[in-house]
Amino acid sequence: MNYSTFYFSGTGNTRWAASEFTKIIQEKGHQAGLYAIDIGAQLSDEQIRLIVNDADSVGFANPIYGGDIPPIMRTFISRVVGLIKALTRPKSTYVINTYGYVNAFGPVETQKLLAGSNLELSAYVNIQLCHNVTSSKPLDRAKLAKRMGRGRDELNGLADCLIAGHKRINGYGPQLKIGAMIRKKVTVTINDFYQTLGVDYTACTGCMVCVKNCPTGSIRLYGDKFVFAAVCTACKRCYNFCPTGAITINGVVADPHKFPRFQGPEE
Ligand SMILES: Cc1cc2nc3c(=O)[nH]c(=O)nc-3n(C[C@H](O)[C@H](O)[C@H](O)COP(=O)(O)O)c2cc1C
Ligand code: SF4
Ligand code: SF4
Repeated sequence: MNYSTFYFSGTGNTRWAASEFTKIIQEKGHQAGLYAIDIGAQLSDEQIRLIVNDADSVGFANPIYGGDIPPIMRTFISRVVGLIKALTRPKSTYVINTYGYVNAFGPVETQKLLAGSNLELSAYVNIQLCHNVTSSKPLDRAKLAKRMGRGRDELNGLADCLIAGHKRINGYGPQLKIGAMIRKKVTVTINDFYQTLGVDYTACTGCMVCVKNCPTGSIRLYGDKFVFAAVCTACKRCYNFCPTGAITINGVVADPHKFPRFQGPEE
């Protein structure tokens, strides 16, 4: 069997989860493909069609933003659905979500986006790792390691269910209420996030790491000023990975020594 996962990961948590899943599938004697959907990966329509057609099961892995799917993954799933109209028979589909506090609408929203396509959501996992938003608290590595252990077990369960052809939809339930409250507030924040981004030019070295790494191509240098575009998916990769901590949010210059940046789950 062949399992192909498309993933988006702003800061590394989901990349870790999707890579673990790929390894687990391979260890169980099956084929697994892993495809980043960042703009830099340049997945063509033809490649996407081939990947989907060749797979026995197709996966989408992404972090949860505001109890929901990040805009970049929303757009990507809609693109896939538009491209595979020619699929003649249903294909099993799985979702891997990572989150810090509470997920709510990840599976519901994915199902809505897949409606009318022949991609049928058959398995879903919800993996709590850590948040990647601005904080003065250092990352609790021991807690994260425990969660990664639990996450591995979840991914192993996901792989077993897919291989056995069983359904596995976890993650609905009491979280929906809290998620609904978060979603109401955060959706607007995510869509408008690009307007809050800026650069502290006294700290910026002009290395262009932010421009090269932005998954949506939202950062451009015009003359000597950086401009952020509305297609930004609010992943905070620019903020977390700027080597000098020069990316600002709402004009705030956050000293990296006082506000440690999150650069992925693995040291
Ligand atoms: C804009 C934004 C919104 C977020 N909203 C939520 C949320 O509603 N619930 C939650 O549990 N975590 C939330 N998080 C945390 C991420 O879901 C979590 O850190 C995720 O594992 C990051 O994955 P990544 O490293 O693959 O980008 C949010 C993070 C960002 C950047
Ligand atoms: S990554 Fe940071 S230092 Fe490099 S160009 Fe961007 S803002 Fe400037
Ligand atoms: S501008 Fe920053 S937050 Fe927005 S998509 Fe690019 S890297 Fe992510």
